[in-house]
Amino acid sequence: MGNKKSKLVVLSGAGISAESGLGTFRDKGGLWDQYDINEVATPEAWEKNPELVLDFYNKRRELCIQAQPNQAHFALAELENHFDVHIVTQNIDDLHERAGSTNILHLHGEILKAQCSINPNDVRVLQNPIIKIGDLSNSGHQLRPHVVWFGESVPKMFEAEDIVRDADIFVVVGTSLNVYPAANLLYACKKNCQKFIVDINELTNVKFNNVKLFKGPASTKIPELVDHLLQLNG
Ligand code: APR
Repeated sequence: MGNKKSKLVVLSGAGISAESGLGTFRDKGGLWDQYDINEVATPEAWEKNPELVLDFYNKRRELCIQAQPNQAHFALAELENHFDVHIVTQNIDDLHERAGSTNILHLHGEILKAQCSINPNDVRVLQNPIIKIGDLSNSGHQLRPHVVWFGESVPKMFEAEDIVRDADIFVVVGTSLNVYPAANLLYACKKNCQKFIVDINELTNVKFNNVKLFKGPASTKIPELVDHLLQLNG
């Protein structure tokens, strides 16, 4: 009987895609320095000026399509050969998928998909990277980005908590843990779970005991962490 693979859960944020050229949100010069969240990423913004919202996500979608996964994404995909890997990402890009990871939950949606502005369960993969006014859902309503906006519920949060709950190893990479409820996942894991944080900065807002910090860019620190894990548990 082969020994059961340890369950390794990753919570990733914008920092893992920074070295792929995609902007983070709260770093200096990040997206929320360039745009007002209330103008482009809330249901009220959508009511007030849907063109501006569509334009914001059309621009980000183009950048996501042009971006390439980096060594951090590839190293996490490689981990699937050694662990039962589950990726819970706050990112709406598809770089984890394109790096080869196969078990991914997008907490905040996916930029390459659109949803009906009335029925959030009517979701489709975009054939054309641009959504414009007049692009309609099956029920004849305007299409919007399949993204969770501020003030909206996070439908996959319970599923994410179930995934984290019985993790043997929990890796948090490239997220400032400033956004809830996603940040609560930190406290959903069991007491004897091995916890690691990979971030280019110290995370000041994290009261997280017995966690090992790999401080530096994800593209070098995730491969380092993978080597460490393979020595420990491989
Ligand atoms: N390598 C590792 N970490 C990095 C790198 C890098 N190259 N560059 C930045 N970081 C870290 C920053 O130090 C910060 O802790 O990544 C984190 C980015 O934090 P945010 O910009 O807040 O991004 P994120 O945590 O993913 O935001 C969460 O907020 O805006 C909403 O829905 C949006 O999913 C997003 C959510």
